[in-house]
Amino acid sequence: MRDVAIIGIGLTKFGELWDQSFRSLIAEAGSKAILDSGIGGKDIDAMYIGSMSSGRFVGQEHIGALVADASGFSHRHIPATRVEGACASGSLAVRQGYLSIASGINDVVVIGGIEKMNDVGGSQATETLATAADQEWEAFFGATFPALYAMIAKRHMHEHGTTKKQLAEVAVKNHANGAKNPYAQYRKEISLDIVMNASPVAEPLGLMDCSPVSDGSAALVLCAAEKAKNYTDKFVKIIGSGQGSDTLALHGRKDICTLDATVHAAKMAYKQAKLDPKDIDLAEVHDCFTIAEICAIEDLGFVKKGDGGKAVSKNITTLDGKIPINTSGGLKSKGHPVGATGVAQIVEIVEQLRGEADKRQVRDAKIGLAHNVGGSGATAVVHIMEGR
Ligand code: COA
Repeated sequence: MRDVAIIGIGLTKFGELWDQSFRSLIAEAGSKAILDSGIGGKDIDAMYIGSMSSGRFVGQEHIGALVADASGFSHRHIPATRVEGACASGSLAVRQGYLSIASGINDVVVIGGIEKMNDVGGSQATETLATAADQEWEAFFGATFPALYAMIAKRHMHEHGTTKKQLAEVAVKNHANGAKNPYAQYRKEISLDIVMNASPVAEPLGLMDCSPVSDGSAALVLCAAEKAKNYTDKFVKIIGSGQGSDTLALHGRKDICTLDATVHAAKMAYKQAKLDPKDIDLAEVHDCFTIAEICAIEDLGFVKKGDGGKAVSKNITTLDGKIPINTSGGLKSKGHPVGATGVAQIVEIVEQLRGEADKRQVRDAKIGLAHNVGGSGATAVVHIMEGR
């Protein structure tokens, strides 16, 4: 296997982007990443694009070819492939690109992630997202993702004594980070009081415990590490890549508070990187709901199972804490355009490892981890990156 480097990053603003089309969003993120990397169009061997449900959100399928076309590369006939794994689609695209370079098939690959969710109404967006849950056992009975994560939250409270206040503290922290991120959907700090008293969505989760419905796109340029210096001297290496799967429905799992797909993906990535959780300087984790961040920091091994809520209360996960989590604002404040999220998480880690995160910069950040989940945990992907 060859080492793989990330040599370029690109991001659009996340939010309700009425003046942008699906095509213009991916072209913006992709061209930013290509410009950042120093490559030319002739250097690109392949493209991998993560998008969860473009067919239902904007009526457009056949995304691989569309993205190559929108990027101006149709005349080069580059292999362009769309990858889907619900909200983990973006990081699955990264992993496919990574594997294609590590195996020696490609040298330079462009990765894109995109979703434009606001072109449909709220109930249609919720219904579309719910297609990633188990149709027969969950969605058919009216279970949406807020409802499924609410069940996880209730169980976590019952088993481990996690409180509504601890859930709220995740949102407060992530909004404080997102307020420092120019690309975030909600660039505003919020108080504990606002989160605790927000309108209920699915008990115990309120409006401010939920990631929003978002439009946005992110892109990366990956390159064989041995060739990265031909283009740039500010590259970051991918030193671990892991992926796991699990039952689509929650009821099939032995413990709904543990995402075994995350545990498995993390184990793979740590083993490849020859690192332990204690070696990680910062992480972007999948906080689609506040409880998801608490489960994630436990399942990734940063704290013991059951201690996630207490860790947040003790400020272990703040920007200047022992293990800063979601310095970008996370899905909660930065936004969650589902197919773009996994790619955008890695954009944040690369900015941090290059020392370019401005007011969000974590001091002495050398090793960063990105964790992306599909559905309620049926797919999980973990990447570990090392700065120079
Ligand atoms: N965080 C912070 N503020 C939010 C927000 C969020 N998640 N969602 C909406 N808001 C704000 C809006 O900006 C708006 O403020 P304004 O009145 O000042 O403009 C207000 O709250 C109401 O927004 P609205 O869009 O009407 O909310 P909604 O009730 O239609 O949707 C949710 C709110 C939480 C139901 C929706 O965002 C949602 O379904 N989120 C979950 C998405 C999801 O499941 N993703 C996949 C995860 S696996």
